[in-house]
Parts: sequence; C-alpha cells; structure tokens
Amino acid sequence: MAFFRRYCRNRNYVTGPGRVYEFFIRGHNAGESLMCGIIGYANADARNIAVPLLEGLSRLEYRGYDSAGIAVSGTDLTVYKHSGELEMLIERVPESGPSGAVGIGHTRWSTHGPPTDENAHPHTDCTDRVAVVHNGIIENARGLRRALEANGHTFDSQTDTEVIPHLIEAELDRSTAPETAFRNAVSQLEGSYAVGALIEGEAAIYATRHRSPLVLGLGDEWYYLASDVPAFLEYTNRVIYLEDGQVATIRPNALTVTNEDGSPTQPLAETVDWDTNAAKKGGYPHYMLKEIYDQPTAIEWCLRGRVGTPTDSVAIRSMEPLDRPEQIHFVSCGSSHHASLYGAQLLRERGIPAYAFLASEYDPGSIPIDDGTLVVAVTQSGETADTLYALSGAMEAGATTVAVTNVVGSTAARKADHTMYIRAGPEVGVAATKTFASQLVALSMFSSTLTDSWTPSLKQALCDLPGQIQQILDKSTMESIATDFLGSDAFFFIGRSYNAPVALEGALKTKEITYEHAEGFAAGELKHGPLSLVTDETPVIALWTAGADPAAMRTNIREVAARGAPVVVVTDSPGSAPEVADRIDVVPKTHPWTSPVLVNTSLQLFAYRIASALGRPIDKPRNLAKSVTVR
Ligand code: G6P
Repeated sequence: MAFFRRYCRNRNYVTGPGRVYEFFIRGHNAGESLMCGIIGYANADARNIAVPLLEGLSRLEYRGYDSAGIAVSGTDLTVYKHSGELEMLIERVPESGPSGAVGIGHTRWSTHGPPTDENAHPHTDCTDRVAVVHNGIIENARGLRRALEANGHTFDSQTDTEVIPHLIEAELDRSTAPETAFRNAVSQLEGSYAVGALIEGEAAIYATRHRSPLVLGLGDEWYYLASDVPAFLEYTNRVIYLEDGQVATIRPNALTVTNEDGSPTQPLAETVDWDTNAAKKGGYPHYMLKEIYDQPTAIEWCLRGRVGTPTDSVAIRSMEPLDRPEQIHFVSCGSSHHASLYGAQLLRERGIPAYAFLASEYDPGSIPIDDGTLVVAVTQSGETADTLYALSGAMEAGATTVAVTNVVGSTAARKADHTMYIRAGPEVGVAATKTFASQLVALSMFSSTLTDSWTPSLKQALCDLPGQIQQILDKSTMESIATDFLGSDAFFFIGRSYNAPVALEGALKTKEITYEHAEGFAAGELKHGPLSLVTDETPVIALWTAGADPAAMRTNIREVAARGAPVVVVTDSPGSAPEVADRIDVVPKTHPWTSPVLVNTSLQLFAYRIASALGRPIDKPRNLAKSVTVR
C-alpha cells in the first residue's frame, strides 16, 4: 500500500524511551468525538505494531478523516496523534515503530468545530497511564468532567471522550484492578460508545460497546479490534461481534469476553464470506469507480440462491416468517431513503399501504402503529444512528421489524426481528453505489415476495441485470456527456414514477462528490417552483424509460427546454425520446421495476466523471462520512 511504502521510507523520526507525543497544532476549537474508526491489535510477535494499526486505519478512513492517532503499550505507553488525514500521522510515526504487543488507533470525523491535535484520539489521563479511543457521544460528559475537575483532574481537550481515561485513572488511583477499573469507568457513561483502552504496564486492550459497532477479528495467536470488518478482512474473516455492554479483554494469545454484570461468556465466532479483494481498490483510481464496476457481481450475489431462472420458484429464507402486513413503514437515510421510496411505491402498487419516512423524522408517537405494521429499516451499514433510533421506536410501539442491510452482524441486523441481507460486499467509497443498486434489487424481491406477485418477466429482468449493467459500463456515453457540461451553474435531475427516486439519487451523488450544485425532482414538481432556477447554464438530466407516464414526462422535458436548458435524456427508447433532447444516453431495455438500476448506473458515471475532472477527493468527500453513527 502506498501509505505503507511511505511509512517505511520515513526514517527521520527517532524516539527516545518513554512517552512520545507528536502534536502539530492547527487550531484550538473544541470538538467532540462523534463518528469515527477504531482499530486495535494484539500480537506478542508483532515486529512493529504501528504497521497493522496504521494499515487498519487506512481501511477505516471512510468513517472519518479529520485526524488520526495511535497508542501502543509496551514498556511505556506511547501516543502519536495528528490533525488532518492519516498520511500526516504516518509521516510522523518512526519507522522503527513504538515497541509493544498491543495497540489501539483511531480516525476521526468531527461535527462540533474543526479538528485539532488536542481533540484527536487517543486521549490520555493526567498521568499518561491510560490511553483511550472512542466512537460515539458521551451524553453525560459535561457532568462527569465537572466532577473529575473538582477532584483535581486536568483536561487537555474539550472532547467528551477525555472523561474516559480520567475515570479509569480515578479507579486505578483507588487501586482497582485494571479490568475492573475499565468496567467501573464505562459503567458511568451515558450515550453511545465503542471504546478501546490501554493501561500502562498491561499487555491488554480493554474494549466495550453500547449502541456503536465493535467487532473482533480472530487470528492464530493474534487479535484485531475494529469498528468494521474491512479494517482486518485481509488477515482474517473469523469475527466476533461484541454485544452492547460486553467487555472484551484482548491480550496477545488470549481473549476473554464478559457480560455487563462481569459474568464470563463465550460469544460465537462467525465467518464473514466477503471476498478480500472486494475491499481493495483493484487497480481503479478510486474505490467509488471500482464499486460502480462491482455492480454486476454485487447483484449476482444479491440474487444468488433467491432468484434462479424465470420458471424457478423464488426462495428468500429470511422472508419466510413474514405475513402480509396491513401497512409498511420504511425508515432510512440518504441513498437508502431513495431506495425506500422505490420499495414503498412497488408495495403500494401491489396493494399494501407503504410509506418511506426519513428516519430522522420518524415519530412513532404521531402515526398509528400496531402489530399489523411492518417497519423496514433500510441501511447499508446497519449502523446509522437515525435509522437505529427509528427502529427502536417502532419496536417499542409494537411493530414487526425487518432490517435490509449489507453488513452481517450489524446493529440493525441484530436488533430487527428479521433481516434480509443485500450481499453487495464491502463498500468503502463514502458515496453509496453498489449498495444502492443492491438495495433496489433486494426491495424488488422483497415486495414481490411479500405480495406474492412474482412474474416470469421480473425474474428474467433481474437475472439479466448484471449483464445489462456491464453493457452500460462497457459502452456508456455518459462520461463524455458529463465532460461537455463541466462548468455549468447547476445540474438538475428529473424523473417520474420509479425514476423519481433515481433522480434524487443522481443529484445526491453529484453534489456529494463534485461539490457542484445539483438537485433532483419528481418531474411534475418542476413547474411548482424549481423551474425558476432553470437557465441555459443548468443542464437537465431527464430519465425517460418505460414505467413513467410518457406524455407527462415529455411535457416536463419541453418545459425546461423552452427555458433554454440543455437537455440530456437517459432512455431505453432513443427512437421515442423527445425531439428537444440535446444529448441522448441509451440504456438497455428491461422491466419497469429494474430500469432504475440501469438508469442509476449512468448517473453514477456522470457524477464520477465530473468529480474526477474537477480533481475532487472522490472517496472521501469533504464533511461527509460513510457511516453516520450520531443523530
Ligand atoms: C451517510 C452516507 C450516505 C448513506 C447514509 C445512510 O450519510 O454518506 O451515503 O446513504 O449515510 O447510510 P446507511 O448505512 O444507513 O445506508
């Protein structure tokens, strides 16, 4: 890996014995540790433990990339941390590495003020005996901090996280044994947290979680700890997902897990069947492009064992226990919400009242929910805080729940009554691509199964999708069209029916990665306001495929053309495309339900090409993160 080569090249830093801090101050604003990546590694034979820690962090950067840090426990406790991207930290960790058999690391995404070195993790106590990495929010941090300060503790940062090392320190000062000190400290926390801690003199990582993901990777005489499996997937696919409240003590050669009350437990090890290469760039300049090109395979995986030939029966084991509900609520965010809008429409057409709610706006108290209500949480990561909160509310209100997710063992998967996996494989680019495509496919299977309305033509269309996406990837004109419209004032996307959610998704992809102004609309809404924004500098990308009302769509396209907007039509019927189209991008013909997957592939290429021409950091757009574990 490039970072690893650079890391090995860097021979300029020599550290003496004892504690090492590398601070490169850029500002002094407060920041809370909100949504981030945690790594830990324990191996008695580790020659340079910084290497697996930094490598793990490089795979977790999609969770945040404002600052990063590592801590290693050997003879001493050594901490390096730095604001900015991981490479800044790598440049400053000595090539010889800190010596020790256990270490923790962190990559951060801040929301409350710019990132600084003081606010970067790991955080330490007054005497630098304890180092802590944390993901989540400690809601009672202010009170805890006041009490600790009253007892003489001094704080270096203004993060919520820093209370944790001080709480552990206070326990150690009372001569509490290290593991108990950790347990007693975290028992005082309220909020959401995944925590990893080192204590000087102890060759152990102490870890726990509450409403924030944490997974252990099991090797032969070594262990990983991480927020997410891709951090270590290259080395092991045997994992243990920690449950809320469990405490793991990870030593080289020994792992113990205890329940919240301290009783020992033997959690089940699971095998993740993701392909290791699927989590790497594989020669593509960006993960996003690789993941767009992964889509034929992702969809094959999604269909495998579920839909075979058009005449075979469909088998979706996870759906067998589900009865036809009286109503369905989808709860989701971002791209997953766009997939949910599509899923809800399919179900309504099949006679089930179904509505897609933004998870952050879902209020079970204001809408009747009973045991006839099915609540479907659509979330590729299975960890989005807004979605999990909505799911909990629905469960409390008595609904039956389903998680439609990509991540085996994720919080949503474990929380919901039933889970349907979309099986897209690991997605690293912050912008959702193959997971969105797989969600559309999964939701079309979900609605056909729940309403018992499978048709041979839909099965055939689903089976044809991988090949048709490949055709688009091989021959799309969208990339050259995109280049022609560089420098436009804004980009508008319009579609009707099943294409309306895809118009929203196309605009979201474009704004996320290009930083250009882009909006998506149900085409009929244009004349109710957005039309005032349309000029000859605002290309309109119009989705013209089977399923939408062609007469109405034609009218909407003419409306924008009449205002001088360049019109790009994405269509499966170039012969019938409105004559006002300036450019036409052709996608293969398919069933109306599968058409959005093809149209969306073209829009992904459009957004990617513009972002690439503008030199944007496509995999890690500013201010965004892939897994948003705060509300
Ligand atoms: C973040 C990501 C989006 C994603 C959304 C929901 O905002 O940047 O790409 O669509 O979270 O994520 P989920 O994991 O719940 O699908």
